Amino acid sequence: MRLKWSQKRAIRKSGIRFSETVVLRDVMETHVDGQREMNSATALDRNEPRPALVDPFGRDISYLRVSVTDRCDFRCVYCMAEHMSFLPKADLLTLEELDRLCSAFVARGVRKLRITGGEPLVRRGIMTLFASLSRHLASGALDELTLTTNGSQLAQHAAELAAHGVRRINVSLDTLDADKFRAITRWGALDQVMAGIDAAQKAGLKVKINTVALKGVNEHEFGQLMAWAHGRGMDLTLIEVMPLGEIGEGRLDQYLPLSLVRARLAEHYTLEDLDYRTGGPARYVRAAETGGRLGFITPLTHNFCEACNRVRVTCTGTLYMCLGQEDAADLRKPLRASESNDLLHAAIDEAIARKPKGHDFVIDRRHQRPALARHMSVTGG
Ligand SMILES: C[S@@+](CC[C@H](N)C(=O)[O-])C[C@H]1O[C@@H](n2cnc3c(N)ncnc32)[C@H](O)[C@@H]1O
Ligand code: SF4
Repeated sequence: MRLKWSQKRAIRKSGIRFSETVVLRDVMETHVDGQREMNSATALDRNEPRPALVDPFGRDISYLRVSVTDRCDFRCVYCMAEHMSFLPKADLLTLEELDRLCSAFVARGVRKLRITGGEPLVRRGIMTLFASLSRHLASGALDELTLTTNGSQLAQHAAELAAHGVRRINVSLDTLDADKFRAITRWGALDQVMAGIDAAQKAGLKVKINTVALKGVNEHEFGQLMAWAHGRGMDLTLIEVMPLGEIGEGRLDQYLPLSLVRARLAEHYTLEDLDYRTGGPARYVRAAETGGRLGFITPLTHNFCEACNRVRVTCTGTLYMCLGQEDAADLRKPLRASESNDLLHAAIDEAIARKPKGHDFVIDRRHQRPALARHMSVTGG
């Protein structure tokens, strides 16, 4: 199928590489006639039925988080050092390869895909990936396509995300104070993120705010953040800082147990436990005074591994079976070794068979070094 002139012009304007135009072309064809004929390269694997992924502990793997870049336009103090060295662009999977990898997991029973990073919206041409993956929503193979973002580029992309079937997104925001925001993110601007959240809500996206609890930094702001989020119809989830990657400061200085945060909030709000689950590690309460939901992600004070349904792929195609363990499997090699997905599926099977029972995070005085050398921006949280 030849590209039309208008399609070529759109590709040139988007700046994406030619290898990625297959995805773009497919997307355009989808938009033109409403149904997608898969091209021969992508059709090789995809129609074959494959067994669902179940790990050695009987957990169904139905959730894939994909980091599409290790780069970011922020340098959050708990996530990155100020001077980071990033991967050479050549090491990254192309958008076409990312589509192929995600689609292979969808063929194995993954029903939820989260695009993350680094900052996913700084990856050039990323909307073509959303556009192409949206075919799995249309076919019913996927329940949810979603995104975790720092919000800085959201104003430009919110409407398009909604058009590609994204319904809910997570925006990370640790404070409502512009100076503190700059201090935490080192490079970020709060008003840009606020504009992103406005645009997302205007586009009809349901927004959840994620806030990392940082001792001595935002620890007295959670009531205010909650009232603000709930007032705008957004859930708020608080996250304990996890010991990932060298960041140039001690973790003990940052670590604030959420058990303490909850006890403090309970002095001012009536917090009722909820059965509500999103399939993730968060445990929710409702604040009677605001009527909204507040989540707690507590990997350190309470381990959330027993019901873990997820795995993570990095932008270089490395599969991590657990956020809190080093063990990983290279999927880029089998992906590139052949046009068929047989090698890829074999590598996925081998990796899932090694998914561990849980993580071993500890932060205390004897464990101030990172538990794992890699930064959160590698796997995207
Ligand atoms: C790595 S970021 C990637 C997506 C995007 N850049 C963002 O900030 O939302 C995903 C989430 O991980 C959180 N995070 C990063 N480093 C963390 C750490 N050491 N402990 C706990 N959460 C962390 C961030 O706050 C963010 O909510
Ligand atoms: S948490 Fe997200 S926004 Fe902050 S530095 Fe890490 S990847 Fe970037």
